[in-house]
Amino acid sequence: MDLFSNFDNIEATAERIAELSKLIDQYNYEYYMNDRSLVSDQEFDSLLRELQDLERSNPELASPNSPTRRVGGEINKSFKQVTHRFPMLSLGNTYSIEEIVDFEARTRKLLGDTQFSYTCELKYDGVAIGLTYKHGQLVQAVTRGNGAVGDDITANARTIQTIPLKLRGSYPDDFEARGEVVYPFNEFETFNKQREADGEEPFANPRNAASGSLKLQDSAECAKRKLQFCMYFMMLPSNWKTIGDSNELNLDTHFDRLEAARQMGFKVQPYIKECRDINEIREFIDYWDTERWNLPFAIDGIVIKVNQVALWDTLGLTSKSPRWAIAYKFKAQQVSTPLESISFQVGRTGIITPVANMKPVWLGGTTVRRATLVNADNIQKLDIHDDDWLLVEKGGEIIPKIVGVDLSKRKVGSMPVTYITNCPECGARLVRAEGEAGHYCPNQDGCPPQIIGRLEHFVSRKAMNIESLGTERLEMLYSKGLVRDIADLYSLDKEQLIGLESTDELGQRRASIQEKGAENILMAIEKSKSVPFERVLFALGIRYVGEVGAKKLARYFKNIDSLVSASVEELASVEDVGEKTAQFIFDFFHEPRHLELIDRLRKAGLQLIALETQQSNILDGKIFVVSGVFSNFSREEIKTHIEQHGGKVSGSISGKTNYVVAGEKMGPEKLKKAEKLGVAIISEEQYLSMVNG
Ligand code: IVH
Repeated sequence: MDLFSNFDNIEATAERIAELSKLIDQYNYEYYMNDRSLVSDQEFDSLLRELQDLERSNPELASPNSPTRRVGGEINKSFKQVTHRFPMLSLGNTYSIEEIVDFEARTRKLLGDTQFSYTCELKYDGVAIGLTYKHGQLVQAVTRGNGAVGDDITANARTIQTIPLKLRGSYPDDFEARGEVVYPFNEFETFNKQREADGEEPFANPRNAASGSLKLQDSAECAKRKLQFCMYFMMLPSNWKTIGDSNELNLDTHFDRLEAARQMGFKVQPYIKECRDINEIREFIDYWDTERWNLPFAIDGIVIKVNQVALWDTLGLTSKSPRWAIAYKFKAQQVSTPLESISFQVGRTGIITPVANMKPVWLGGTTVRRATLVNADNIQKLDIHDDDWLLVEKGGEIIPKIVGVDLSKRKVGSMPVTYITNCPECGARLVRAEGEAGHYCPNQDGCPPQIIGRLEHFVSRKAMNIESLGTERLEMLYSKGLVRDIADLYSLDKEQLIGLESTDELGQRRASIQEKGAENILMAIEKSKSVPFERVLFALGIRYVGEVGAKKLARYFKNIDSLVSASVEELASVEDVGEKTAQFIFDFFHEPRHLELIDRLRKAGLQLIALETQQSNILDGKIFVVSGVFSNFSREEIKTHIEQHGGKVSGSISGKTNYVVAGEKMGPEKLKKAEKLGVAIISEEQYLSMVNG
């Protein structure tokens, strides 16, 4: 290939990349900002794939703001801490309308004869972030953090479709767009349902889910979360200039700034109003107090700002927040409704959850019929009597909460509700362990919802991932006596499966397994035999051992046999494993039936040994604790490094600890303890020379 044709080639490739990026950007913009689809999904995917291929073979031509970045793929080992160029202040806030009246009167007084107005807008209930744009390109996204320093989450922010990567039209050469990342209700619900199906703890509310998503290490995972950015503020340095199309930008008022941001490609919610006086402000607040439940995302109040930017300096700041803005927070909505009955649910681990069945009542955008009463202690604390009217509340959360009893409606002579003594499913006498607030059914092997629950957890995606076995099929296998425990799954054969039928509550036939279906089930079961040890450990469903705990236990003990013979003390020394969990794990592995179960799983060929990634055994038998920030490793990396060289990592310092590897900013408590116990404290460099001989 001669030089010239190569040059031509690169030129042509760069041109095609620019052309594809522009097209895809435009399609994305229309789709996410204007709800308009200009091409078929197929055509869109094929353009995106072409761009991905070109960028992969010409990485020097790939821009950090290419639309291919929307799908993620960058891994953030740990988030870089960034000092905000302009501190991210919070707002003074109040639940009282009188204080809003005071704020308005005070502002009017301070501004004297000056003509001004207010803007009223929604207070989004999500996670605050700041986006820095230079020359029309997104260069950095940082969380609010403590207002002065936040986490650099740029890779994850790029996956949010409503964050423009490149700006349109005219824009300031340098500025920060601030706003809130929210998790729309419908997406949140789908996501939480999936989490539950996977045996994971659902998020309590969209805000927590948004925050967790922004902190994901894998940006491709973040891309799947369908977050939204709602811009609410434009922060300009004093010497900004207009660039881009260079049409004049009018940024004198907050209202103008948000309108200009919309033209640049930001998603700016239309629910903003310029208000002249307190009556208009009140009207806006009252309207949204009820109307908020019809929004597709959560808000927790209204923000009122002085509209004219030039007046912000005149009004100034208090120690924490500007004097030119205030937030009115909505109170949680509350209704009272009669309690009709209490039902008791039995969970996978035998835990009993009492649920209040109430006369359906309209609250915050949905009809509420049922709500958890948590446990017996809670019922007692709320002092619920038969036939009481319950006070139900809904704040920013989706899940209604029972907060008390409407005593004005209590019937004379009514008695406190009685708690069940026996399991509603199997009749076994319930147990309440000392110090525990809840009851549980101890009949693990004879109580159907516990058995089915354990099977569901075992086959779930994050555990053994046996997709073809859903709840209905597991129930069917259980009721036919084919599967009584998780090990039974591994002795199923095709003949047993073919023709199995499930019936609905009325005894009507619903579905039967055909030959192909049976083959698929057996294939998925076979495949699960190669699932790594840490996931098998999670799949066992030991109380309080989640995905992360299982990973840490697997890394520490390396195989099931050392785990089985570990003492409570040794178990508790593993990071993230508390005393209580350690005791549960110990008890689990000291039940003969569990040992027998493990034996059967071993015979079936499951992975009960962690994969060998050992690089040396130079640290054999040595127990380490790591603390602080390291320069060559993230905290997780140094732990893996220690283990790969034969050492063990413990979460807390004890007499058994051999070394504490101290990074920068080591915790003072750890330092004190290490000194007291005479444990050697070594630096990262000393650690490295120890490993490298
Ligand atoms: S303005 C200097 N506007 O509420 C003014 N904040 O304490 C900066 N928030 O965490 C804030 N919606 O992230 C503003 N429309 C809105 C908002 C909003 C939500 C959050 C903000 C901050 C808190 C205020």
